[in-house]
Amino acid sequence: MTRQMNPESQPIGYARLRDRRLNRGTAFSPAERHAFALEGLLPPAVSTLELQIARRHDEIDGLNDDLQKYLVLSDLQARNETLFYALLMSDPAKYMPLVYTPTVGEACQKFGHIFREGRGLYLPISARGRVRELLSNWPERDVRFIVVTDGERILGLGDLGVGGMGIPLGKLALYTACAGVPPQYSLPVVLDVGTNNQQLLDDPLYLGLRQQRVRGEEYLAFVDEFVSAVQELFPKCCIQWEDFANTNAVPILARYKDVICTFNDDIQGTAGVALAGILAALRLSGQKLTDQRFLFLGAGSAATGIAELISRAMAQEGLDLEIARRRNALYDINGLLVSGRQDLLEFQKPFAHDGPPIGTFVEAVRALRPTGIIGVSTVPKLFNREVIEAMAEINERPIIFPYSNPTSRSECTAEEAYRWSNGRAIFASGSPFPPVEWGGRRFIPGQGNNVYIFPAMGMAVYATEATRVTEGMFITAARALAEQVTDQNLAAGLIYPPQSEILKTSLHVAARIAEEIFAQGLARVARPANVAELIRARAYQPVYADRDSAIGQS
Ligand code: NAI
Repeated sequence: MTRQMNPESQPIGYARLRDRRLNRGTAFSPAERHAFALEGLLPPAVSTLELQIARRHDEIDGLNDDLQKYLVLSDLQARNETLFYALLMSDPAKYMPLVYTPTVGEACQKFGHIFREGRGLYLPISARGRVRELLSNWPERDVRFIVVTDGERILGLGDLGVGGMGIPLGKLALYTACAGVPPQYSLPVVLDVGTNNQQLLDDPLYLGLRQQRVRGEEYLAFVDEFVSAVQELFPKCCIQWEDFANTNAVPILARYKDVICTFNDDIQGTAGVALAGILAALRLSGQKLTDQRFLFLGAGSAATGIAELISRAMAQEGLDLEIARRRNALYDINGLLVSGRQDLLEFQKPFAHDGPPIGTFVEAVRALRPTGIIGVSTVPKLFNREVIEAMAEINERPIIFPYSNPTSRSECTAEEAYRWSNGRAIFASGSPFPPVEWGGRRFIPGQGNNVYIFPAMGMAVYATEATRVTEGMFITAARALAEQVTDQNLAAGLIYPPQSEILKTSLHVAARIAEEIFAQGLARVARPANVAELIRARAYQPVYADRDSAIGQS
């Protein structure tokens, strides 16, 4: 066996321990330790991957602060990628809330205070004209997924500037952990155009550009430059827009969605997961989608995205699209969206009602008699007792979906929804709630987490090399997700499949989306006989692969 040395006579093994893709830590075998000059650099005992997972489980269980757990996981990701994903995939329900919402919200808020090393790409607007050059500094040449934010509306927490980087990092980790998208194809990006968060601007530890947000033409030109540079350097790349303020999110999506492979998870992924929840809820109530009426608290990008996808799904089931849109009413900070209002944005107008203005949410519930209410307002507690009691008066099984994130922004808790509706609510929330005991029954609240949709969408796009992401693909995803909810899940009130089975669920959803991609002629690879098999074959496995060890090669 030859010993590998680099030109400066530094044993290559030392560098291998610091390469997150090649590192196996204590799992390097005695033969590998010898071949890679690792002897002496590790304690002598050799661990299996299972033992390494158990060690990290123990370490994390010993901590009682979620942000600390988040940091342990981030450090592990930077040190040993295989172990990081093996750990996440060993217990997704436990680790998802640590890697993503709600914990990631705190990580973004404290970004400048907990920063350890640059991960992903930071594109400041001060580098306008040089975006391609900065993107070329990324070490991978075949990038298939970019999750990008400008940090202006992070979860329900507002403008966190460059601290928004936690979101692309977390989301991309979930693409891999929940649907098997190989991590080497992912690139997290922040477009730093400044921040209007004075607290951050006054914080000496803040790490972004210290200026107010750039708006208008200059902002759009910067986004255009970014998109063109990505197209040039990474022609197979799908761009996922994330946590932009709705005034930018909606026009950006409209500008690119028919031109490149792109989607906005806050708008379309949320819509997909909400539609899936509704389809499963209808299995519980035994009603038809076309008979539903929804009232949204909030009229931003999430609300209009969900309302539009529900309308299109209603149209697929035979309702006229315009009539379907009128079944979805929106209520925002200024009251019900009615056509007489002068402050409506273009993307809100299709949902404006013809009636008189209504100034309280509970009055809107009484007037419109919705079958479901969906909270995407970022404001906690607005689904109060009066609102939920009114819903329970109107409906035998009221659909109550407080979707605002993180938990502190939820429009109501699971316990409140079940209690105030006498256990009749069909409930799902954006952030997780623990099981509720009420009236001698145990309810398991579902989490309408986009994680049921976007990783599967990513996997389907990756495996088929799709050229576009369409609304039809999100409706297919929602139907594929809803059909995986078992009768047993429904009996416990659970309208999404358990998160512990997220990989299996996502692979099924991805296969159905991939079928749709082939059917629409949007794939860049030939259609195989078995599409589900294509998805399975492409899925990343968190194991130490022999190709990474290459003993004996010089
Ligand atoms: P946004 O900022 O675009 O919209 C917020 C809307 O709420 C605006 O229309 C605003 O007028 C309205 N609003 C604010 N205060 C209100 C009040 N007191 N009464 C009535 N309406 C009020 O935000 P976006 O992107 O639509 O997201 C909203 C929330 O949805 C966030 O908390 C986000 O985390 C959550 N969300 C949840 C997802 C999920 O759980 N699957 C996915 C995407 C978003």
